[in-house]
Amino acid sequence: MATASATDEQRAPAREPVLSIRDVSKGFGAVRALTDVALDVYAGEVVALVGDNGAGKSTLVKILAGVHSADQGTITFNGAPVSIPSPTESRELGIATVFQDLALCDNLDVVANLFLGRERGGLAIDEEGMEQQAWEACRQLSAKIPSVRIAVASLSGGQRQTVAIARSLIGEPQIVILDEPTAALGVAQTAEVLNLIERLRERGLGVLLISHNMADVQAVADRVVVLRLGRNNGVFRTADVSYEDIVAAITGATDNPVSSRAHTGAADKEQAE
Ligand SMILES: Nc1ncnc2c1ncn2[C@@H]1O[C@H](COP(=O)(O)OP(=O)(O)OP(=O)(O)O)[C@@H](O)[C@H]1O
Ligand SMILES: [Mg+2]
Repeated sequence: MATASATDEQRAPAREPVLSIRDVSKGFGAVRALTDVALDVYAGEVVALVGDNGAGKSTLVKILAGVHSADQGTITFNGAPVSIPSPTESRELGIATVFQDLALCDNLDVVANLFLGRERGGLAIDEEGMEQQAWEACRQLSAKIPSVRIAVASLSGGQRQTVAIARSLIGEPQIVILDEPTAALGVAQTAEVLNLIERLRERGLGVLLISHNMADVQAVADRVVVLRLGRNNGVFRTADVSYEDIVAAITGATDNPVSSRAHTGAADKEQAE
């Protein structure tokens, strides 16, 4: 595809990733949740992070969000090594995380939700200014919110996701992490959120998208990073990879074509477990 190769050139290795993870490991007692994981996110690209249940996706997200700390490994942000000891530090660094439960307050309106918890940060914004910024955030995302003065409880699932994403943009992040943003959504709402993700990319943000939905991944991701049993199991350019290849990397059905032929029995046994 001509456009894909042009994009490849623009994203040549000479450009530095905004976020770079190397050799990150994390254990919970005897459980090795992550082992020597590597991941890069460039500005203006959507990276899908996929893997089976328990593959370590949420653990990696929580390390980047400052909820968990890695046992070892390095995280580099804009070329400088960083540590992310707390959610505040993650935000201040420029990483915005939208968790699956969204953490919105149903009884409050859109404006209040966007600025929730920020009033105390010395960010004294007047009511009018907040409403203005809320509209601006929604406008930038081309979000279909009927009013920023509407209680979040009365919004649809897709609109709620939009509010959560808009909130993450208030801190002007460079990286936005979305954990299963379409998991609970219908077809039309999913399309809306996928459009939103493209808006983020157009604005030059790096997006890390955690998803179980391969259709979503293939629709918006530039690259797909596969985790399997807490380890990297392939990085693909979405344009070059088939659905079957991604699923094979997720399940470990073909760690490589030769070994998969030699170990078909072993793979079957593993899947049965
Ligand atoms: N707080 C914790 N304490 C103990 N073990 C944990 C903890 N968090 C995660 N784990 C374990 O680490 C491994 C990776 O879990 P993680 O939640 O990162 O997987 P995931 O890829 O997000 O899976 P899913 O798709 O089901 O959300 C699992 O074996 C899980 O049981
Ligand atoms: Mg998870």
